[in-house]
Amino acid sequence: MGHPDWKETVYAVLAKKHEQDYADAHRHLRAAKGNNTPASRLNLLESSSDAGDMGTPGFEHPPTTGVIYVMERAAAKGWKYGDKTWGNFGQGAPEVGHIPDAPARPMTITMHENEFEYAPVAGLKTLREAVANLYNVRYREGKTSKYTWENVCIVPGGRAGLTRMAASIGDTNVGFFLPEYTAYEALLNIFKRMVPIPTPLEKESAYHITPKRLYKEIQARGLGVVVSSNPSNPTGQLTEGDELREWVNVCRTTKTTLVLDEFYSSYIYTHPDEPGKCISSAEYVDDVNIDPVVIIDGMTKNFRLPGWRVCWIIGPKEYISSMASSGSFLEGGANHPLQQAAIALLEPSRAKQDAIALQNHFRMKRAYVLDRLASFNIPVNIPPMATFYIWLDLNNLPEPYCNGLTFFEACLDEKVIVVPGIFFDINPGKRRDLAQSPYQGFVRLSFGPAMEELKIGLDGMERLLKRIGHITVA
Ligand SMILES: Cc1ncc(COP(=O)(O)O)c(C=O)c1O
Repeated sequence: MGHPDWKETVYAVLAKKHEQDYADAHRHLRAAKGNNTPASRLNLLESSSDAGDMGTPGFEHPPTTGVIYVMERAAAKGWKYGDKTWGNFGQGAPEVGHIPDAPARPMTITMHENEFEYAPVAGLKTLREAVANLYNVRYREGKTSKYTWENVCIVPGGRAGLTRMAASIGDTNVGFFLPEYTAYEALLNIFKRMVPIPTPLEKESAYHITPKRLYKEIQARGLGVVVSSNPSNPTGQLTEGDELREWVNVCRTTKTTLVLDEFYSSYIYTHPDEPGKCISSAEYVDDVNIDPVVIIDGMTKNFRLPGWRVCWIIGPKEYISSMASSGSFLEGGANHPLQQAAIALLEPSRAKQDAIALQNHFRMKRAYVLDRLASFNIPVNIPPMATFYIWLDLNNLPEPYCNGLTFFEACLDEKVIVVPGIFFDINPGKRRDLAQSPYQGFVRLSFGPAMEELKIGLDGMERLLKRIGHITVA
């Protein structure tokens, strides 16, 4: 009698376990609020028997994907805000405490009675002037056409800015590139006049959009507007220099509005010899009132003040006037006292000192995380040129952990939070089946949190990788 084939038995048991892990990860996602409505893309992964009804006639729960889903799953596994035993790489915000050499931020503000009034929907004129001045100093030295306060609209946060922008888009095709920031999904779907048109980018080209490709997409798909984050959330890639100039030229000549979400314009790692260098398409605009370039940015990431909700849109003044009109019915504008407080932070030499400190600090964190990932045998082939995100390719992990959703669930067991890559395969209107999404084998890892937390998270990830046999135990 031969020996029982242990190997086969072990493989069979492991295969069963992998299947189970994969099925569990998807079951959790399908069960989340709003993910089992008939329109939900998640329904396409496997049918669900749950009724997708919120119980309120006429209302439908929006799908729970992205960071909300991630945090709900983490909470279900014991995570709480402020729990120092967790490493939250899901965090889409930078650390907000003091960092070396950064100018001090106001810890108190003095209010005046007139700040109890509404601020203008387009923002305080003095703040609009301060934003225009910062852009002129940073990006438009020596150019005759300069931004003025009329080219700036203040908005209560980046998403509010994007919503104002989306609310003013008419009957046109709007192009966007994948993977992209999760909030764009609902945003490109709620205003029904525009038709959102995706273009998936490939890892083989490092998620790069050449000017030639941009031109081709515009012409072939009849795009009236192109929206993109640059630097990119989630890939951390960046279009700059002559290529960015060409993007602007392409949009000028094809008469296409280029909406660039430049929320990470200070998190630049490609110019170590030019401390504090920030990147913006504002540098390549010829006439600020004619070129169809609209920029969204603000205090959230670049000034590490996500809680202030003070951001801006910059563009031709006619366009800015329509942004003010949509703000008057959408949210009514940014809060008055913090607009006032933001003015001092935008003084160009102070803003430069802030950007230098930020780049030094985040460059150090970036190197630390990349080194540790390499030591885990997960090399990052497309490291971030900008932002504080790493788009982590899991393809050399064993099954089923090479799937982002399963890896995410397994990380939670080690008190580590990452964001599955599939959430960035944004799908406005649920028109595509994401079962075969090319981003299933990725997670986004944020090095926004402070150093101690990054260490805790990477230690947890190391434990997981040892447990699953991807790295050998010394
Ligand atoms: C690319 C991008 N744009 C806009 C925002 C939104 O910023 P806010 O928190 O100010 O709404 C974010 C936040 O994660 C982002 O990553």
